Amino acid sequence: MAGEVLRVQGGTPLVGELTVRGAKNLVPKAMVAALLGTTPSRLRNIPDIADVGIVSELVELHGVRVTPGDEPGELVLDPSAVEDADVVAVAAHAGSSRIPVLLCGPLLHRTGRAFIPDLGGCRIGDRPIDFHLDALRAFGAVVDKRPDGLYLKAPERLRGTLLTLPYPSVGATEQVLLTAVLADGVTELRNAAVEPEIVDLIAVLQKMGANISLHTDRTIRVVGVDELRGATHRSMPDRLEVASWACTALATQGDVFVRGARQVDMMTFLNVFRAVGGEIDITDDGIRFWHPGGPLTPLHLETDVHPGFMTDWQQPLVVALTQASGVSIVHETVFEGRLGYTDALVQMGATIQLFRECLGGQPCRYGQRNYAHSAVIAGPSKLYGADLEIPDLRGGFSYVIAALAAQGHSTLRNVGIIKRGYEDFLGKLAGLGADVEWVPAS
Ligand code: EPZ
Repeated sequence: MAGEVLRVQGGTPLVGELTVRGAKNLVPKAMVAALLGTTPSRLRNIPDIADVGIVSELVELHGVRVTPGDEPGELVLDPSAVEDADVVAVAAHAGSSRIPVLLCGPLLHRTGRAFIPDLGGCRIGDRPIDFHLDALRAFGAVVDKRPDGLYLKAPERLRGTLLTLPYPSVGATEQVLLTAVLADGVTELRNAAVEPEIVDLIAVLQKMGANISLHTDRTIRVVGVDELRGATHRSMPDRLEVASWACTALATQGDVFVRGARQVDMMTFLNVFRAVGGEIDITDDGIRFWHPGGPLTPLHLETDVHPGFMTDWQQPLVVALTQASGVSIVHETVFEGRLGYTDALVQMGATIQLFRECLGGQPCRYGQRNYAHSAVIAGPSKLYGADLEIPDLRGGFSYVIAALAAQGHSTLRNVGIIKRGYEDFLGKLAGLGADVEWVPAS
């Protein structure tokens, strides 16, 4: 990725086919789960994205042997020699990802202690980890926060506990699952997140021998077991990437077949895509998304936890909404800082205004707290190429979509961030007929 500056010539409808593989928000967690087993785990449908590389290095530092499996996209993780990692080597991963915090439970079970460096991930809000730490303490872990990271100890076997999350956090639910499965006794987690990626992680853990039940009221009950074995698991597809390509088709007036897309994971998105005026054709092999011609329809939308409209679907959809005829309202209720990327769309010619109030629906946690978390988008707007710096993963991909839909050329800097969650996105763009090329950084 020489210099990570991408030149995009806009104005071409993207047409063709691409394949989406395993979910960025499941695979690294399934890799962490492998640490809990006594025998190797075999994970399939693994995408070649930076986050998988980072987690491979991290688990290797803790003694897990990571090797390619027999089929393409397969990884074998052998946890038989898990050991304390060198703190300096782990600290070198500070700021690289948010996954390290999920190593707490597995490492406490395997070695009695854990060191977790400062977390990275997209800057889309404060992203505290208080729910994680409260849960770990309730299991009996001792948590020492120091300037370089978290030092945790389990003076005795962690024990099951009763927990209620203040908000159905994906990461905190995963933290509890990865800790409860080998804890002594029963854990009951109320107000848990139930995203499909969490259900897929539960499937991995059940294959490993865990006893987990998911109740209708967001309660998860885990009966701890003494030992887990390795599992073979094919990851669910990346429904966030699918939505990104769907919105690319819509915003560029294109027609894209996403092989590997699975309807059941994204019904809410599919309803919204249709409501805006996009067409879909769902098959067993994937989903075709296209712009049927004519004007797009504006709408009012609120992001939410599953089964609501995902916060990660919001950014690509907003680009498409700049092309709808009329006023759309988007209320972001999951992360307080996830609309900053719209400044760049305005620079490109979009008419978007941010508001601190909760617009268009139910009041949310951010209503009285001075966060610009509602957007009013008036369209259709002609977009023009611009020189942009990519801020985060999903916002960054939305810049790519906007640049493809715009008149003229754009230069996008810091494109490496997109590698974190989109496998071979440049190859996929080229395959759809996009006019993109690397240019040397100035
Ligand atoms: C996961 O982040 C995903 N990341 C995010 O995807 C996704 O947007 C998010 O879930 C929501 O679906 C990964 O899976 C690696 P949360 P996570 O805990 O787990 C608050 C992408 O682009 N909260 O559900 O960090 C938090 O601040 C990424 O792929 C606390 O207050 O999200 C937020 O407002 C970005 N305290 C809300 O809960 C805590 O201890 C939801 O966050 C934990 C969370």
